[in-house]
Amino acid sequence: PLVSMKEMLEKGKENGYAVGQFNINNLEYIQAILQAAEEEKSPVILGVSEGAGKYMGGFNVVVAMVKSLMESYGTTVPVAIHLDHGSSFEKCAAAIHAGFTSVMIDASHDPIDENIATTKKVTELAHLHGVSVEAEVGTVGGEEDGVIGGIMYADVNECKRLVTEAGIDCLAPALGSVHGPYQGEPNLGFKEMEEILNAVQIPLVLHGGTGIPTKDIQKAISLGTAKINVNTENQMAQTAAVRKTLEEKPDLYDPRKYLGPGTEAIKETVIGKMREFGSSGKA
Ligand code: G3H
Ligand code: ZN
Repeated sequence: PLVSMKEMLEKGKENGYAVGQFNINNLEYIQAILQAAEEEKSPVILGVSEGAGKYMGGFNVVVAMVKSLMESYGTTVPVAIHLDHGSSFEKCAAAIHAGFTSVMIDASHDPIDENIATTKKVTELAHLHGVSVEAEVGTVGGEEDGVIGGIMYADVNECKRLVTEAGIDCLAPALGSVHGPYQGEPNLGFKEMEEILNAVQIPLVLHGGTGIPTKDIQKAISLGTAKINVNTENQMAQTAAVRKTLEEKPDLYDPRKYLGPGTEAIKETVIGKMREFGSSGKA
């Protein structure tokens, strides 16, 4: 069923696993991820950036595609449709009214008082609709939907204020992770993660899941991380499979014949992550 993230993340935090957020870009992503989740008996979060939502034809198109695929697949595992890095109250409201079950308001680039005020407004509307809310403190490195920024670590007191004053359901404290591939090994602030977990006591979210070694994933989960976002890795796997197919058979023109292997590659990647995050068998 289509649900908010609240219960799935609280269960994950309690039982020592994380639920993956896998970003979707088109129909094939939704197919691959829903199939992976059902086969693995895993809860799953479909992440939709504003850019990807626009690409697919709007938030309502996204919701319609997800709902009707779930119906034709007979999906039994919990699925959340989540706005990824929502840039304003208005964008979050549009997603909620289109039927998203979860939103992230990312006002982390604003001063903390403004971040709290915007997030609180979103939380008030979202909770009326049974929709869960994620918010961010600090800056995730690399590119965020077209905006490139440097890394800035989340401040513990700011995290505490955002959680208590805005009433969010989960918190993304930026602690050295990066969107897109890492240059060398990531250097995550686990000491800060532990302090933040103790201060907020709600599920934490790790952005920039692509390229984080398993030992760091496990450490993050042990420190309250119950949601891990993965986007780039699926894109790279899909693209490599499509490229290989087209190189091997340059005469192909039926899109199903070259997109199919790409979709399989996404599915395999997602299954691998679900096992690594420990969410397999938890639905
Ligand atoms: O919000 C989405 C992510 O944090 C994904 O990051 O593309 O590095 O996996 P990634
Ligand atoms: Zn992110």
